[in-house]
Amino acid sequence: MKPMKPTAESLQHLACYVFHCSHQLGDNMWLFTALLLWADPTKAVITLQPPWVSVFQDENVTLWCEGPRLPENSSTQWFLNGTTIQILTPRYRIAATSVNDGGEYRCQTGLSVPSDPIQLEIHRDWLLLQVSNRVFIEGEPLALRCHGWKNKRVYNILFYQDGKAFKFSPWNSEFTIRKTNVSHNGIYHCSGLGLHRYTSAGVPITVKELFPAPVLKVSSSLPILEGNLVNLSCETKLLLQRPGLQLYFSFYVDRKILMSRNTSSEYQILTAKREDSGLYQCEATTEDGNVIKHSPELELQVLGLQSPTSVWFHVLFHLAMGVIFLVDTVFYVIIHKELQRKKKWNLEISLDSGHEKAVSSYL
Ligand SMILES: *[C@@H]1O[C@H](CO)[C@@H](O)[C@H](O)[C@H]1NC(C)=O
Ligand SMILES: *[C@@H]1O[C@H](CO)[C@@H](O)[C@H](O)[C@H]1NC(C)=O
Ligand SMILES: *[C@@H]1O[C@H](CO)[C@@H](O)[C@H](O)[C@H]1NC(C)=O
Ligand SMILES: *[C@@H]1O[C@H](CO)[C@@H](O)[C@H](O)[C@H]1NC(C)=O
Ligand SMILES: *[C@@H]1O[C@H](CO)[C@@H](O)[C@H](O)[C@H]1NC(C)=O
Repeated sequence: MKPMKPTAESLQHLACYVFHCSHQLGDNMWLFTALLLWADPTKAVITLQPPWVSVFQDENVTLWCEGPRLPENSSTQWFLNGTTIQILTPRYRIAATSVNDGGEYRCQTGLSVPSDPIQLEIHRDWLLLQVSNRVFIEGEPLALRCHGWKNKRVYNILFYQDGKAFKFSPWNSEFTIRKTNVSHNGIYHCSGLGLHRYTSAGVPITVKELFPAPVLKVSSSLPILEGNLVNLSCETKLLLQRPGLQLYFSFYVDRKILMSRNTSSEYQILTAKREDSGLYQCEATTEDGNVIKHSPELELQVLGLQSPTSVWFHVLFHLAMGVIFLVDTVFYVIIHKELQRKKKWNLEISLDSGHEKAVSSYL
């Protein structure tokens, strides 16, 4: 009775087994991976084939439910708008959708808790902006498709965010933002040229922040003196709790790495040296590296010759210099006085010419 964790591969192969698709193994792999990125292994997951949460009326949609089950029981429960529907298979195919197929879908397998809901919308319009989801956690990919009614081709496609065009494509009606961040919040729409220029309705997209950019903090009284222990910590906090979500921290000085991808948000300089001075920065990332955030730089200066031993050295040095100066001064005064005295004496001798012998003996 080992609960099976759904893997990207198992879902992909399940989908491809039924649809005999081969191209998807490469192209859409990351989409599947992203959907299961921080998946709770006890929670069922719904995936869509094709992957859009809004479709035109009369189009076909298949929903897949993946989650831990009892080995002998593949029974799956499906819920639409909160009530169970009479489908018991992991695959729920809706052929030729009608307005009544729209709503909030959830599923549950034998050993799982109910999945997060998927809001399926059924539309009638000339042009529809299809999205892979409407709510994301930063780092997840957002796929967009500007889709014409009855699969009519449109050209010169423009994608807009909050009324501003951000992508033009002459032919390709699909565009993917590989790693979303909070700047991707907004209302999206698209326009394309068929017989006329058509414009889709707007789709609100929400990207939730996983954690804010970290701040590098130093817990040591400043200034840092040579020989001190310095604790650096890379502070941020998870805004969304996801099972198994783990942040990794790196520390840099002058853009050179000090500690790489550690689960500990702390870094210690055991005995600071003057060479440890520099611009410090830290980085927090998710395990897959899809979300990477840097702290602002922090300048640290380690001061030398200020430690207790060097202070004593300074005191003794100045004391010694003082003593030498004092002794010098005393000597100078003595010598000076002596010379003055001798000069006077010499003068007296030279005046007395009879004592030349005595002067030369003195000199
Ligand atoms: C939906 O699937 C049916 C086969 O079940 C197919 O005949 C039809 O063309 C499909 N419709 C669309 C819009 O792809
Ligand atoms: C489910 O709710 C949506 C509105 O959220 C509605 O359009 C749809 O008809 C409902 N479907 C059923 C089967 O009740
Ligand atoms: C399979 O599990 C479902 C609940 O998920 C239960 O209602 C059903 O009776 C089970 N069937 C068998 C054969 O055990
Ligand atoms: C630095 O961290 C260690 C262990 O994390 C702690 O024991 C020590 O008191 C800290 N020192 C300072 C100066 O914060
Ligand atoms: C992570 O940091 C801790 C203490 O800061 C250290 O003991 C450990 O070896 C580090 N792990 C790696 C993988 O660097």
